[in-house]
Amino acid sequence: MIDIAILGFGTVGSGVAEVLDAQRERVRQAAGDDIRVKYILDIRDFPGSPYADRVVRDMNVILEDPDVKAVCETMGGKEPAFAFTRAALERGKSVCTSNKELVDAFGPELVQTAGAHGCSYLFEASVGGGIPILRTLRDSCRHEELTSVVGILNGTCNYILTKMDREGMDFADALRQAQENGFAERSPDADVQGHDTARKLAILASLISGRRVRYEQVPCEGITEVSPEDLLRARKTGRAVKLLGICGRDPAAGTLSVMAAPCLVPQDNPLYGVNDVFNGILVHGNCVGDLMFYGRGAGKLPTASAVAADVVECVKNPGRTVEAGLPAPGAEITPVPFTGPLPGGIERLRRGA
Ligand SMILES: NC(=O)c1ccc[n+]([C@@H]2O[C@H](COP(=O)([O-])OP(=O)(O)OC[C@H]3O[C@@H](n4cnc5c(N)ncnc54)[C@H](OP(=O)(O)O)[C@@H]3O)[C@@H](O)[C@H]2O)c1
Repeated sequence: MIDIAILGFGTVGSGVAEVLDAQRERVRQAAGDDIRVKYILDIRDFPGSPYADRVVRDMNVILEDPDVKAVCETMGGKEPAFAFTRAALERGKSVCTSNKELVDAFGPELVQTAGAHGCSYLFEASVGGGIPILRTLRDSCRHEELTSVVGILNGTCNYILTKMDREGMDFADALRQAQENGFAERSPDADVQGHDTARKLAILASLISGRRVRYEQVPCEGITEVSPEDLLRARKTGRAVKLLGICGRDPAAGTLSVMAAPCLVPQDNPLYGVNDVFNGILVHGNCVGDLMFYGRGAGKLPTASAVAADVVECVKNPGRTVEAGLPAPGAEITPVPFTGPLPGGIERLRRGA
């Protein structure tokens, strides 16, 4: 029996407990042992929850229990998530997270800390929710020269743009409907201004280039100014407007370009058909060519499933550090602006053009 703890029992954290319970037998087969949620750290109580008796308030209870081998950090934000993560790793407890903000800000340092203490820091759920994109890039594509990643990385924005396109709504109405249907948060700025997409793209760009790209280095434009007329004009030329995170590399020149912006996607690009809350990620490798990943980029169970997959991988590798694929701290790169055509026949949306 392997004990784990969950930090933050909100949407994703409660989903992790549910996935591990509902899939108990499959998890046991995959991990080679039973996995039990021994502690849940939160600031609230959860009366009536089947997990109510496992809730603790003090992180030290988890840190000081030698039976806890892995921790799921599903609190979000930088602090105390960073301090708790580092403390767990320093005690040899692996950490699996959905927290893209923390991965973007401190990922390489936390991976290094894990390496120094014989445990792992994994973050599959931080990009693309349930889509196993990071594992594929760091594992199956490791031998490839990956030259571009283009992704619809934010389900909220994709839902809004799909509504605007299909129903001729303006941005404000589509956002309101997304909020009413639970597809957008009450404070949707990070999503609609493109920052969430830029964060996820920075993680992807770091992974495919082996050099650190920070979210602040990603030129970023959101969808708040996209109008129904933009969508109509795109449709007339057989294209769709999508908020994309784009990373292109020129391995010969050693350069890398990144941006997050609304773009025109032609019909023959697989991202054209990615609608509603779905995410899609198109990767190009020198041997394999184009690869397309599609799935739910957010939501309780899809995101929790990705965290659970990381837990299984950590449990299968006791005392070892699973390669996370991020560059070492200090391996920085300064992105250069895109020149020439964007990958996959994509063009940046020029409003009113
Ligand atoms: N939701 C998704 O679909 C999704 C998808 C991909 C990635 N993510 C990422 O996953 C992370 C968690 O997201 P979420 O949607 O699950 O958030 P959430 O529902 O707000 O859950 C966070 C939980 O952590 C608790 N918490 C906050 N500060 C704490 C502290 N200091 N000590 C103990 N518990 C604390 C919160 O309690 P209170 O509610 O009382 O504040 C809440 O129960 C975020 O980084 C998010 O970006 C989410």
